[in-house]
Amino acid sequence: MSVAIYPGSFDPVTLGHLDIIKRASKIFDHVIIGVLNNTSKTPLFSSEERVNMLRDVLCDIDNVSVESFNGLLVDFAKQKNTNVIIRGLRALTDFDLEMQMAQSNRMVAPDVDTIFLSTSLEYSYLSSSVVKEYARYGVDVKEFVPECIVSKLLDKMKGQ
Ligand code: PNS
Repeated sequence: MSVAIYPGSFDPVTLGHLDIIKRASKIFDHVIIGVLNNTSKTPLFSSEERVNMLRDVLCDIDNVSVESFNGLLVDFAKQKNTNVIIRGLRALTDFDLEMQMAQSNRMVAPDVDTIFLSTSLEYSYLSSSVVKEYARYGVDVKEFVPECIVSKLLDKMKGQ
């Protein structure tokens, strides 16, 4: 069975992430979404909230599961018995960082390969940071995130 990990912060999940997940789920038998728990940035949503939001929006895709992880991505991949990592590439600006991550992961775990999926054109500008910034200033973000995330974002912003 072919299994791949799609890791990220998902703070929160965007339509761009969803697009990559749906496409990856057609390529691999199973896709594990790995939600990073030990980020050095302070996330808006806790890792439990991020996992639950992803589970909600992905409930109709059978071959996708969601888990949080701590520590190194390559260790999480080993734990899950896979050596395939998926990342989305939006634009040239992503390239440096993504190459750096893929190369360093291969330095410590030569068997682990990163496969890049090019983001669909309509999401090439989209990031969780942009979504949070817009939501903070009251811009309607329904075109950027799944419907059920909109109200969760607004609630968070009100609580800040
Ligand atoms: O959604 P993001 O924030 O771009 O995802 C980044 C992520 C989670 C893929 C990356 O930070 C990561 O793999 N972190 C785990 C720690 C690790 O393995 N670091 C070494 C790779 S540079």
